[in-house]
Amino acid sequence: MKEVQSLLGVFTEVFGPGAAPVVVRAPGRVNLIGEHTDYNEGFVLPVAVDFSLFLAARRRKDRQVKAYAVDRQELVSFSLEDSFSYDHDHRWSNYLQGVLRVLQHACARAESGEELPGIEVAFTGKIPPGAGLASSAALEVATALAVQELNGLSFDRPALARICQQAENEFAGVNCGIMDQFVSLLGKAGHALFLDCRSLEYRQLPLELGEYRLLLCQSGVRHTLADSEYNRRRRDCEEGTAFFSRRFPEIKSLRDLTLTQLETCREEINPVLYRRLLHVLSENLRVEESVAALEARDLKTFGVLLNASHDSLRYLYEVSCAEIDLLVELAREVPGVLGTRLTGGGFGGCTISLVQEDAVEDFSRRVLTNYQQQTGITPVLYEITAAGGAELIQKGDEE
Ligand code: GLA
Repeated sequence: MKEVQSLLGVFTEVFGPGAAPVVVRAPGRVNLIGEHTDYNEGFVLPVAVDFSLFLAARRRKDRQVKAYAVDRQELVSFSLEDSFSYDHDHRWSNYLQGVLRVLQHACARAESGEELPGIEVAFTGKIPPGAGLASSAALEVATALAVQELNGLSFDRPALARICQQAENEFAGVNCGIMDQFVSLLGKAGHALFLDCRSLEYRQLPLELGEYRLLLCQSGVRHTLADSEYNRRRRDCEEGTAFFSRRFPEIKSLRDLTLTQLETCREEINPVLYRRLLHVLSENLRVEESVAALEARDLKTFGVLLNASHDSLRYLYEVSCAEIDLLVELAREVPGVLGTRLTGGGFGGCTISLVQEDAVEDFSRRVLTNYQQQTGITPVLYEITAAGGAELIQKGDEE
């Protein structure tokens, strides 16, 4: 593999000769439907995609970590002996550092209480950062898998996903759910992953689209309020849960709230909160309906659900933005498009569209040209297929 050869070349240049490192691959993801439901213990339906991050790592004798981001040509050092400090200049390193810290804690509890040694690590990726394709989750997952392999740890994949999510929540400042890390670890080629974010039970659903294609359109924008608004939405959901659990003690999260209960109390909560909650509830239902539609190969219904999901994200949850809405509107005008919506956390990133094979060219011409004319930004279009989850590509030398 070309990427791996060149990564190994850079690894030796930066860290010098020595034991062969462990090499892992971790993919990014595209969520088909189920947005902002994961942190409400709801349902999601993402796929792992063919954009991957490759990471090489080997153990050190001391507790230093030396990490090199190949694409940025940035080297960061820190010691596992010191306490965590957020690195504002190299934000990528907080993901890596976070995973090491959480793993260290988890090892102290679960395994023999052993301390993790330092590592030398280098990574490179084809996942465009800021595109909403979960490049940070891929870095967390790759780090966790490599450290697990280097130290003979035995966390199963759902447990590793939790560790990565915790790293992002506690050390990177985003209170994300578990979807991105989970699908990066457990995605399966040709399948979408139907995940219950409460129990972490999941089902691999064959993604059979017949004469239809899934197109990913990268808007080229990511608004700076993305992280703060994300955390705000999460707080809104917590407020909603607190309100309804006082009223209905069986409610532990928004997963438990029904539309009837929401409507009963509509006058008692503020209208913004009502809209947020209505999105979460209806989106959960749409995921279940999408699974049924895909199983019945009813792509028309799936397309209708994609459109409804976007409208809900736009008007109820209010996490879309002008550029994404423009992409969606342009896509909907193209004959042969069954549905289209914002995918990922929002405030920029990408849309996905379900497009008839014969309409792909027309789609590409009309959507891309008009978007460019109206925004001055050149969008990027990819056809996506469901790829496999993270994997070990090379075992390191035994030391
Ligand atoms: C981001 C988060 C996920 C999820 C989505 C929205 O990608 O990392 O956990 O909440 O937003 O569905």
